[in-house]
Amino acid sequence: MPSSRQSWPRQVARSVLGLYRPAAVQAALTPAADRTTGVRQWEPTAAESKAVEVIRRNPSSLFEAMKWSPDPWQREYLGTTGQRTLLLCCRRAGKSVTSAARTLAHCLTHRDALAMVFPPTLRQSMEYVRHVRLFDRAAGQPVKVERSAGTILEWANGSRLMALPDRQQGVVGFTPTKIVIDEASRVSDVLYLSLRPMLALGRAELELLSTPFGKRGFFFDIVNTPARASRFRQWQVPAARCPRISREFLAEEMVELGERWYRQEYDLAFNDSVDSVFTASVIEAAMQRTAIGPLFDLGA
Ligand SMILES: Nc1ncnc2c1ncn2[C@@H]1O[C@H](COP(=O)(O)OP(=O)(O)OP(=O)(O)O)[C@@H](O)[C@H]1O
Ligand SMILES: [Mg+2]
Repeated sequence: MPSSRQSWPRQVARSVLGLYRPAAVQAALTPAADRTTGVRQWEPTAAESKAVEVIRRNPSSLFEAMKWSPDPWQREYLGTTGQRTLLLCCRRAGKSVTSAARTLAHCLTHRDALAMVFPPTLRQSMEYVRHVRLFDRAAGQPVKVERSAGTILEWANGSRLMALPDRQQGVVGFTPTKIVIDEASRVSDVLYLSLRPMLALGRAELELLSTPFGKRGFFFDIVNTPARASRFRQWQVPAARCPRISREFLAEEMVELGERWYRQEYDLAFNDSVDSVFTASVIEAAMQRTAIGPLFDLGA
């Protein structure tokens, strides 16, 4: 399709995203109908069908292909088919790699899937896609990779993965089948608000993963608002439940980080911001009419 006939959001997306990876991003931004990869005619061989079926039945096999034994929560998370999932885990628990494996399973076991991943920075986007590539290779690339460039991957079954850093420009006009927000507590609220309408057609899964980062932002609000939290299937994994983090290391961290920061990084605590004068509970109490009477009666 000539660029003059494209909608303006797509043109803006092309020019903004094209700044850091022109060819690959522009190819991924091209609607499936415009592409010439012939994905619609994709017919898997018997071997491909069998390999994909193994992953569909047991997504943890992707971990096993890496010679890793999944933690109980990782096995459960990989196997869940829920539309809304949330991981509230300590640092280094394995959030990103578990999500990367689940995203790969999604792309391999669905035709024409579009998984969009939003970590806070480009560097983290690249790391996420690197994990997806590693799982794919370890599993023997059950579906042929058609395109692999930067933070974009595309398979012969028409599925695509795009990992984009936190920027709300260029996210309009897509119909993803899966949205992942990694380090959700550090991603902007504006991005979250911009992504929400993509869920309108009811096809997309939404995955939020993070360690706490203060009593602020949409991730904190979701976890701490029961009506919102109840829409998500949640896993909470403090460091005490991570077999790869030793007690000795945690004791050292308590000394080095201090209790407040330690509790955020390893105990899933949402702290008041370091620079705030009043704690969140004091500010909330001040909003309640009953908590403190007004100093002056200003009349009606
Ligand atoms: N089940 C497992 N077996 C072996 N290694 C694992 C397992 N799960 C995770 N890891 C390893 O743990 C490390 C941390 O994983 P990952 O980057 O996903 O953690 P994270 O929770 O996203 O960390 P961060 O908080 O820094 O973002 C990775 O190097 C990964 O190789
Ligand atoms: Mg991570």
